[in-house]
Amino acid sequence: MKTCKIEELSDLEKSMVKKAISARENAYCPYSNYKVGAYLLDKNGNFHAGCNVESADYTLSTHAEMLAIDNMVLSGCKDIELLVIALKGTDIPAMPCGLCRQKISEFSTGNTKIISVNIDENENIYCIYVTDFYELLPYRFGKENL
Ligand code: THU
Ligand code: ZN
Repeated sequence: MKTCKIEELSDLEKSMVKKAISARENAYCPYSNYKVGAYLLDKNGNFHAGCNVESADYTLSTHAEMLAIDNMVLSGCKDIELLVIALKGTDIPAMPCGLCRQKISEFSTGNTKIISVNIDENENIYCIYVTDFYELLPYRFGKENL
C-alpha cells in the first residue's frame, strides 16, 4: 500500500475522488454516524456510485463498495478498473472492511486499483492510500478454489 498526495493522482482519479466524497454525503448511517462513499470505474468505461445504507435492525447494512459493485453488475459489467472510497480515517488508515475485500476481489482483475481517501474531522483529505486487491486480500478464497 502506498500513500500519495492528491496532486499525484491523474485528472480522472482526482475527479473520481471528488465523486466518492460527494457520494459519501448521501450515506444513510444514523446508527454508526460513519459515512462511506464509493465511486467505481468499470472495464467498459462506465461509472457507478455507492454509499453505506444502514437499517434500524443494525445488521441490514449495505456498504458503499457493495452498492457501487452491485450497480456495476446490474449494468452488465463484471470487472472493476478503479474503485475509490472515501471514509473517515486519520492516524489509523481506513480501508475497505473484510466483507468488502472479498466482494472487491470477486470482481477484480490483475489491473484493478483501489484508492482509499481518508477524511479528517474537519472533512479535509487527511491521507490517500493506493493499493490493489492482492494486497487487500492475500490468499483469498475465489472461484479458482471451487
Ligand atoms: N462501511 C462501509 O460502507 N464500507 C466499509 O468497508 C467499512 C464499513 C460502513 C458500514 C456501516 O454503515 C458503517 O460503515 C460503520 O461500520
Ligand atoms: Zn465493507
